[in-house]
Amino acid sequence: MGEQINNAVRRIGVLTSGGDAPGMNAAVRAVVRSAVYRGIEVVGIRRGWQGLINGDMYKMTTSDVSHIINLGGTILYTARSEEFRTPEGRKKAYNNCRLFGLDGIVAIGGDGTFAGALALSTEYPISVVGIPGTIDNDIGCTHYCIGYDTAANTAIDAIDKLRDTMQSHERCSVIEVMGHRAGNLALYTGLATGATAVLIPEEPWDIEKDVLDKIRSARLAGRTNFMIVVAEGAKQKDDGTLDNEKVGDGGAGYQVGSLIEEHLGLSPRVTVLGHVQRGGRPSARDRVTATRMGYFAVEALANGKTNRVIIHEHGAITDIDMVEGLKMKNKLNEDEKLVSKTMTGAH
Ligand code: F6P
Repeated sequence: MGEQINNAVRRIGVLTSGGDAPGMNAAVRAVVRSAVYRGIEVVGIRRGWQGLINGDMYKMTTSDVSHIINLGGTILYTARSEEFRTPEGRKKAYNNCRLFGLDGIVAIGGDGTFAGALALSTEYPISVVGIPGTIDNDIGCTHYCIGYDTAANTAIDAIDKLRDTMQSHERCSVIEVMGHRAGNLALYTGLATGATAVLIPEEPWDIEKDVLDKIRSARLAGRTNFMIVVAEGAKQKDDGTLDNEKVGDGGAGYQVGSLIEEHLGLSPRVTVLGHVQRGGRPSARDRVTATRMGYFAVEALANGKTNRVIIHEHGAITDIDMVEGLKMKNKLNEDEKLVSKTMTGAH
């Protein structure tokens, strides 16, 4: 037990919600240890907001979070909850807040998680603080989300391995990375692996300009292997599919691969990295960022704050109003975009 400090909250809940991300366990650990240090009790809520509705909760102590800082995934499980989107669901959730004596909740997840937290705290007297955790790194109000660095390094390691064999066989590799609506991961991993071309959801692609011409230039420059990084949500210009429809039979990667084969006579090997990007031991950056964010989330609740999101801004950890934060849209890193255009355009 640390200092006995005046706390605005006595017992808080902590949950993980949405797509899991490496580092979430480190954040949970930091919430528990920071709270215990301040004399605040912690209740672990399993399976996200659905767990709060179901009363799937347990008292957490520091021993519950021993040896988890280095584990991927989340010991609290995660889930998406349709029921929590309803007033009836949130009433059940609040009744459990009263039954378990919760006066605050730390919610670790993405925009959807924060929207749920805001709805609950708007309708009921419960304080909420969000911690950004998603490998997409697409939460507009923060420069960094827990999990991004680990996921990027997982993808980069896989792409490097693919480059070895593509080089040996003088082949074209199309690698589909995660990022349904956000190209942050594709842009970053494409830069880090020296991709021939990078396709992202934010910029619908033209097969000739954005892919085939780049392969031709690379071939003319003497290259005989080509690495095309495609975000799973990247769409061909004017392809008419809805925002949430997968293109082709297998997704963006297969669509690009078949067009390369059709136009250039190459036989690309398509690799969909998929959920491997969501797992793995969190990197040092994710462990430390998550620990810092967990600490500041407890500080915010202890100091009587609510409806805040803990953010990473120019290297510092601070907090922002949740309503304002949810209005901010994801922005790609402008100089990564600029540099990527140059790196993939000069052969
Ligand atoms: O939000 C993170 C994310 O990994 C996206 O990149 C991906 O499209 C989505 O989750 C996959 O969701 P699920 O795990 O439900 O298939």
